[in-house]
Amino acid sequence: MRHSDDLLWSAVADLSRFAALLTMAELGLADELAHGPLGAADLAGRCEADPDALRRVLRELAAMGLVRRTGDDRYDLTERGTPLRSDVPGSLRSSIQMLGEESLWYAMGNLPATVRAGSSALTARYGLLYDHLAANPETSRLFGEYMATRAIPFIEGLVKGYDFRGVHSLVDVGGGRGHVLAAVLEANPEMRGVLLDREHVIEQARAALAAEGLTDRCELVPGDFFRSVPAGHDAYLLGSVLHNWDDDDAVTILRNVREAMDPAGRVLVLEVVLPEDDAPHLGKDLDMRMLAVFDGGTERSGSEYGALLSRAGLTLSRVVELEGAASLIEAVASAD
Ligand SMILES: C[S@@+](CC[C@H](N)C(=O)[O-])C[C@H]1O[C@@H](n2cnc3c(N)ncnc32)[C@H](O)[C@@H]1O
Repeated sequence: MRHSDDLLWSAVADLSRFAALLTMAELGLADELAHGPLGAADLAGRCEADPDALRRVLRELAAMGLVRRTGDDRYDLTERGTPLRSDVPGSLRSSIQMLGEESLWYAMGNLPATVRAGSSALTARYGLLYDHLAANPETSRLFGEYMATRAIPFIEGLVKGYDFRGVHSLVDVGGGRGHVLAAVLEANPEMRGVLLDREHVIEQARAALAAEGLTDRCELVPGDFFRSVPAGHDAYLLGSVLHNWDDDDAVTILRNVREAMDPAGRVLVLEVVLPEDDAPHLGKDLDMRMLAVFDGGTERSGSEYGALLSRAGLTLSRVVELEGAASLIEAVASAD
């Protein structure tokens, strides 16, 4: 093989590196190595793996700087590998497990089939991802942790970068475990929150918000945002929700929000907004996942969000660029 084009060959190598990383996450190698170096055979015994196969993965992980060989056949966890531990703040273990979970792996591997058909190979095989999660509690738990971890930079950006003055009650539409809502409520002690999500997710949110001591300030509403959204509140947050749906579905959700909101209220769309140019951007990588996983799921540019909002009777009032490559798109009800 000639490594004549670095970008091409590094994209190919990324696949092998991700597979090694997934093995590290699945087998819990970082947790086993958390208290000091172990021999490969001992480590294999602890995580019920084949020692020879594990050694080869450890060699790749050492080349990636995630573990270090400390002596013959002994391995230690490095600082770079530490986020793979389950017990560290912002642990990436569940996120890696979720991205390598059977249905998402299948989705990425079958992107060519999705592109040929114009509809998601994942949906054809597993059904709508959110139905698949509802039927698989462990995968749903991983997805919830992945969403919460992935949102950490956006959340910091949102809390620091957006002025919530005047928002007394905030509805988090499709709020997941409530990680974004919790951070906004913590930063704004007078505010009350409402979290709408599917029933099985509400149970996860209940536990997560209780752990943050926010049970009394937050109403949990199981429901379907295609049918209705809790009415009469003055701000509605849609964080990483619209990018899962095609334009018509996204407009249905936004119309339900428009109908439910206080007439002087605002809609806050938190998404990674695609730049109009061809420079590398996180949104373009995320868009491959949206394409692979959801029928009609798509990242959008600012002007595309403006057009969606307008179809739903809303007017884009401003876009606030946040840390973590996300943006907050603020909209208000259009004048009739
Ligand atoms: C990509 S996650 C975003 C979670 C969270 N807002 C965030 O920013 O991390 C989309 C959320 O929409 C929820 N959802 C999907 N379909 C829904 C529906 N029909 N009604 C209500 N919530 C729904 C999912 O359960 C999931 O929690």
